[in-house]
Amino acid sequence: MTFEEARAQFPVLERFAYLNAGTFGPLARSVADVMAAEQQRALAEGRMNSPLFGRWLDLRERVRAGIAATIGVPPERLALTSSTTEACNVVLLGLGLDPGDEIVTTDSEHPGLMLPLIASGATLQITPTRELDPGDLLEAVDARVTPRTKLIALSHVTWTTGTALPWREVREATGVPVLVDGAQSVGAIPVDASPADFYTVSSQKWLCGPDLTGALAVADPDGLRLAMPSTLSQRKIDLGIGTFEQRENADRFDTSFTPMGSLEGLAAALELHPDWRYERAREATANCRRLLAQRFEVVTPPDHGTLVSFRTDDPAAKTKALFDRGVIVRDIPGTDLLRASCGWWTSDDDLERLLDALG
Ligand SMILES: Cc1ncc(COP(=O)(O)O)c(C=O)c1O
Repeated sequence: MTFEEARAQFPVLERFAYLNAGTFGPLARSVADVMAAEQQRALAEGRMNSPLFGRWLDLRERVRAGIAATIGVPPERLALTSSTTEACNVVLLGLGLDPGDEIVTTDSEHPGLMLPLIASGATLQITPTRELDPGDLLEAVDARVTPRTKLIALSHVTWTTGTALPWREVREATGVPVLVDGAQSVGAIPVDASPADFYTVSSQKWLCGPDLTGALAVADPDGLRLAMPSTLSQRKIDLGIGTFEQRENADRFDTSFTPMGSLEGLAAALELHPDWRYERAREATANCRRLLAQRFEVVTPPDHGTLVSFRTDDPAAKTKALFDRGVIVRDIPGTDLLRASCGWWTSDDDLERLLDALG
């Protein structure tokens, strides 16, 4: 697939410099088409029937295998969730923590991780990262680990500055289980989630999947209590005595009956990505940094993720003004940062348009 063919999958790129995959990846025509076709089919044939049920189960396994392959874990270790936030809740409820337990995290986390951490009831040890050199993070996290630490929870790539955090080194150095928020890494940079105890996926971002699709990799499904069961969690239920047999693998943590159209859309999205996706995304990110650094203070270190954040006055107003000029980025609330997301579909022209529109 050539670069032009790859870009042509996304109609939005014909009009906009779409630099917001950190929120939602661009929607491909093939993804929208299969979702719309499923709605039409449901109208004509009914939302569920027996042949369809088999197809629905097969599709679940197809997307499970596709996401698992993307992050380097076996499908048996992957649960399908609706989001990273839900995946974090599955882990934190399952761990069943109380204030005597500690979790080490950072002050760069997204509410999708931070709120489940706060609600978990554990005592949080929050590592300040804003003034920290990324190279010093491992030591700073390690210094907060005590015999009461039950979990270290952190992003693979932070949503604010696009900094990649050394979660694998943290796991190795401390021996403490890690929950890694993969919302800004999966589909953007190569990911091997296999050393993580828990690793989350937001499919609507860099995988360009439908809204409310995600996953959770669980290295040892038997080591996590099933605290948020769904109908899909059981192999067999005994209603008379009130017991159930859990499914054998991580699919016991599947959280919901993902709609048929979303599964169709996600399966189509997993087919979009060319072999050269990571290389091209990295190149686009480096170009974006270079161009922005000529005029702005870029806070994203080189060669981390695919987000580029830079300081401006009134970033919320700038986001609106840029939209009026055909450029879609986002501001990071409570900061002076604007964030551009660079994907494998991002062209030099998109980046020039960003620079021009910034005035
Ligand atoms: C780092 C990070 N974590 C979590 C989330 C929340 O993702 P989800 O909507 O899949 O729960 C986001 C969304 O922007 C994010 O950037």
